[in-house]
Amino acid sequence: MIQSFKKIEKISGELSLPGDKSISHRALIISALSEGESRIQNLPNSDDVNSTIRCLRDLGVEIRKGNNLVTINGRGFKGFRKPAEPLNAGNSGTTARLLSGILAVQNFQSTLVGDSSLSIRPMKRIIEPLKMMGTNIRSSDSYTLPLTFNPSSKINSIEYELPVPSAQVKSAILLAGMHCDETTTVIENAITRDHTERMLGLKVDKTGNKIFSFVSRSDYPEAQDYYIPRDISSAAYFIVLTLLTKNSCLTLKNVSLNPIRIGFLEILMNMGGDIIYKITHSSNNESYGDVVVSSSELENIEITKDIIPGIIDEIPIIAVAGVFAKGNFELRFAEELRVKESDRIHSACHNFAMLGLDVEELKDGLILSGNIKNDNPVFNSFKDHRIAMAFGILSSLLENGGQVDGFECVSVSNPDYLLQLNSITS
Ligand code: S3P
Repeated sequence: MIQSFKKIEKISGELSLPGDKSISHRALIISALSEGESRIQNLPNSDDVNSTIRCLRDLGVEIRKGNNLVTINGRGFKGFRKPAEPLNAGNSGTTARLLSGILAVQNFQSTLVGDSSLSIRPMKRIIEPLKMMGTNIRSSDSYTLPLTFNPSSKINSIEYELPVPSAQVKSAILLAGMHCDETTTVIENAITRDHTERMLGLKVDKTGNKIFSFVSRSDYPEAQDYYIPRDISSAAYFIVLTLLTKNSCLTLKNVSLNPIRIGFLEILMNMGGDIIYKITHSSNNESYGDVVVSSSELENIEITKDIIPGIIDEIPIIAVAGVFAKGNFELRFAEELRVKESDRIHSACHNFAMLGLDVEELKDGLILSGNIKNDNPVFNSFKDHRIAMAFGILSSLLENGGQVDGFECVSVSNPDYLLQLNSITS
């Protein structure tokens, strides 16, 4: 589907977005592991979250969807049922990697598959530490899906230093480690999102540049109620659109303000963005509140290596902001973007080149300079929701608008993107 966008003249009003995707996956999985009934408020109806729901149902978990409230009857310690068919994680890396940590320690065989994008994403990063724990996992020779998990006679705890900063890998190990009596320790050299640790109430220590997370059987969760703060990564697109549209102001209500997730707000503010955010509430150890954003003149700044893991999902939309900011946009140290839902360095470079910009594609980033020459370009989503949304915003900023081919993939994280956009446009 080719989606056309006209230039937007003004943004105003308020948005209440669906719940945060990362926190939602974890609330579902942790509720499914707990014994008894948990309830989750604000779960998004997105493809990725629905993939987690589908896999958990196939593992025998009863999940009932109501009016903005999902009720889950968890199965308790090692209580999942052997699935009749391979579990399908769809496009969702978080579903695949987090569930791997749990499937690897069950007493039955299971197989995990995914769509064509997920099936080429790297899984060695979870297979290696999970095998060190004594689990029995088979994969293709290239360490990709499908993965088959066989029961193992003994699972042991490990101490593991992450070679790649990844919250998904960290979470897979912590979820597996929660099934051992002895303590498993995950060590990070760069801070990545900590939703699993917060939700399970894990002990976390920081020493120098290293972060240590500890887990054992004593951290196994109990059923509870969850309120999911609204998705700050989905908000990022509307924040950049508002900054770059004249005479505009937008309030985003009750969005997640977890300190590790707001790196892109700090970058945009350092670029000159008029953004005010305030933590007003907390639920399940996650803070949230409102963000108010107004039209601004932006200037590109240096993006340092240490901040990359904290802004990894927002880089495509930060690059869009960079096109309209003073000076050249430069990104480095972001090679992880090559193994996301698409190769996001390549996808972004392809689309920026459509504008007639001078684009230098680097191994771990990109440099953008020159001026926009092509009006009304047709961008490619590369079937990647974050590329589709970023270039949808860029299209809405162009004098003659633009188009995004394959826009329907936004349903992976935010199926109501167009409705939300219309509601704040005049
Ligand atoms: C996520 C972690 C990040 C992020 C992804 C969601 C999570 O991936 O890009 O969209 O929920 O843990 P990595 O763990 O691969 O860095």
